[in-house]
Amino acid sequence: MTDANVHVPAPSTLPSTLPPTEPDATRTSHARRGWEPSTGAAELARRYPAHVGATRLYGEEFHRDPHAVYQRLRARHGSVAPVLLDDDVPAWLVIGYRELHYVAGQPDLFGKDSRTWNAWDLAPPHWPLRPPVAWTDTILSTDGAEHGRHSAAVDDALGAVDLFELAGRCERIADGLIDAFAGDGKADLIGQYAARIPMAAGATLLALPPADTAAFLADVTAMLMQAGEAHAAEARLRAIVRPYTTARRANPGADTLSRLAAHPVALTDDEVFEDLIMLLLMSQAKTTAWIGNALRLILTDPRFAVTIAGGRRSVAHALAEVLWEDPPFSNAFGRWATRPVHLGTQHIRRGDLLVLSVAAANADPQVRPDQLAGPGGSQAHLAFGSGPHRCPYASQDVAETVARTAVTVLLDRIPDITPAVPAGALAWQPTVVVRSLMAMPVVFTSS
Ligand code: HEM
Repeated sequence: MTDANVHVPAPSTLPSTLPPTEPDATRTSHARRGWEPSTGAAELARRYPAHVGATRLYGEEFHRDPHAVYQRLRARHGSVAPVLLDDDVPAWLVIGYRELHYVAGQPDLFGKDSRTWNAWDLAPPHWPLRPPVAWTDTILSTDGAEHGRHSAAVDDALGAVDLFELAGRCERIADGLIDAFAGDGKADLIGQYAARIPMAAGATLLALPPADTAAFLADVTAMLMQAGEAHAAEARLRAIVRPYTTARRANPGADTLSRLAAHPVALTDDEVFEDLIMLLLMSQAKTTAWIGNALRLILTDPRFAVTIAGGRRSVAHALAEVLWEDPPFSNAFGRWATRPVHLGTQHIRRGDLLVLSVAAANADPQVRPDQLAGPGGSQAHLAFGSGPHRCPYASQDVAETVARTAVTVLLDRIPDITPAVPAGALAWQPTVVVRSLMAMPVVFTSS
């Protein structure tokens, strides 16, 4: 199998982080205690009075126009708002630009350890937000020295990626995907294209033999889709990765797996595995969204449509504009208050969950007084986060290389691509975490 025909089934929903590990225990305790929705409502009123009647960050209205909801929240609550996540689970949404910077920059006050959350018992067993909230033994959930250890390994492993070579691999993957639908005269640019590129590109960084790459991709996708199969898929993945980890620890190559395994911080085999899978899952949903949102902008906004034929300048502009206006990781989960604190006008209690609304903070009138003027060339958006847990710079470079190549190759290969439905008919994934289209049907001259 070559890069060009690496096949990733298109997930219909795209969780942004590892599937839950720690909350298995929570799941059992819910089952034992017989969790009922009514238990949740009564407990909410008793323990989270500020959240009774709070705005829901789920449902059709929110997913259709989240920015209208953020605006109303800002008008009513200022920079920090009480909100209800799926199944009416309470959280604080940080929507002020300065406040987001502040929270993200104070790991002692707002930590990443979700095991300290005071509302685990309000999350039903199959709560859709368990994956981004679950504790994992990775860079995501650790703070201080332990975070520094994971972070050093991840930075060095991704920092060593040859971006030029990666772009070449992405081109071949993109070409293979386009070849598969070019003769049809129509395609879904999310399911048949954007969702298939990031994972396939990421897998090439591991330098596994083709047969193991195919098995690896199939199982990572099963984990990603949270299919009933996920646990079996994870066990198979561990079996694939472990012998390579041992071999490359002893005899490292230039690939990402070798760099994690042989890093001086001495990650254990389990840590190498968890960090590796976490990186692939982190990159999949967000890079898919970045590609998809940029294509949507280019194909539906007249400012971009007129310059499509000339291509490349518009691609860079579209990718940059999406980071401000429709950031892929729109609401970053999460931080947990380590002690009671006042933030904005709210009183946050120890163990409360704070969600960092990158999308709302980017539109904060304090930093964007004239929303219609657009951000210009400014790069001060929060799309990649802020503080010690911001998206590692090397990850940002990898994401940019994959997204830019994917969009550019498509527009070069099919210059007369046109949306098959009006922009208003495009539906968004029903998740608060990632801003990503469900599908983007297009038509073009078949070749
Ligand atoms: C469209 C592209 C991407 C966007 C918009 C994005 C955005 C973000 C944001 C906002 C955070 C901060 C989360 C927080 O503060 O809680 C973050 C963290 C992170 N991202 Fe990305 N990301 C992207 C691509 C990637 C890719 C391709 C990778 C891996 C190859 C990656 C790996 C990570 C990791 C490991 C973290 C956690 C860092 C830490 O906790 O120290 N991201 N990302």
